[in-house]
Amino acid sequence: MSDIITATAHTNIALIKYWGKENVDLNIPTTSSLSMTLDKFYTRTSVEFNNSLAQDTLILNEKEVDPSRVHRFLNIFRSEVADFGSVLVISKNHVPTAAGLASSASSFAALTGAMSGLLDLNLMPTQMSRYARRGSGSASRSIFGNFAIWNKGEDEESSYAESFLNEDIELSMIVAEVSATSKKMSSTKGMQLAQLSPDYATWVERSAVQLKEMKAAILRSDIERVGLIAQENSLAMHDLNWNCPEPFDYFTDKTRELISFVDNCYKEGLLAFVTIDAGPNVKIITSRAQEKYILKRLQDNFPDLQFDIAHAGPGIRVEV
Ligand code: PMV
Repeated sequence: MSDIITATAHTNIALIKYWGKENVDLNIPTTSSLSMTLDKFYTRTSVEFNNSLAQDTLILNEKEVDPSRVHRFLNIFRSEVADFGSVLVISKNHVPTAAGLASSASSFAALTGAMSGLLDLNLMPTQMSRYARRGSGSASRSIFGNFAIWNKGEDEESSYAESFLNEDIELSMIVAEVSATSKKMSSTKGMQLAQLSPDYATWVERSAVQLKEMKAAILRSDIERVGLIAQENSLAMHDLNWNCPEPFDYFTDKTRELISFVDNCYKEGLLAFVTIDAGPNVKIITSRAQEKYILKRLQDNFPDLQFDIAHAGPGIRVEV
């Protein structure tokens, strides 16, 4: 075993969202979720024991940053596996963080992979998924390539993701980077507020039906159904945020303009759908065959925005 272990994990975008926790400390969700791992965006993280450090240290994108979230995560290994000294974590996000694209999924998945190598744990992917979940719920899915389902389970043991289909179905995601102007609301806080919405129980029920339909649509490579279900699921998630006792909104005007532009493309007969997470960025779901045409239309209509095309990507890789 070498002294420095490096792991790479890709980010994932949920087609059926995780938006609510049954247990906040353990990140046990209220619903199961399904995602596609993206080839384009990833985090590469190296870890090593370093007893000359007074505490766990995190170097993110070449800068030393607050390590408290990483420290809390490493403490899970300290209490469950073995007590160990300070760890130096060096991480690089190949994710456009400036535009607020979430990187916690790839970050905690990569850190899990690297720590399992450093501690020689020989974890099965589903065990890695459980650890990653504790860092950030969506990280549980970034262990796997292509499509993953995080089965909600009910406790620490039973809540983890699994590979759903380890094949590409020619689905494309065009990521539109919309910069945030409003104050950010963390996903944990956003979920807590959304769970108070009078529509929350309906969203949970609907999500189970959508998950079933989504699985069938993916297995048929039916991109229109995949897009329609993902769009309905995501917009309903944002509806909860607008209709809870303390309403909040992740959208900006640009987000709304993009949604209506994509809707018009669909009405013209194109395959174009949106999915949006806890921020203003819009991911446009389309097919491999139509991606270039839709990208051109987007660039012509939104010349100030940056767009990236992403496809299904690989699962975690640990270099030992
Ligand atoms: O993993 P978290 O706590 O950052 O939550 C992610 C929540 C969404 O991105 C909005 C949805 C999802 O399933 O990824």
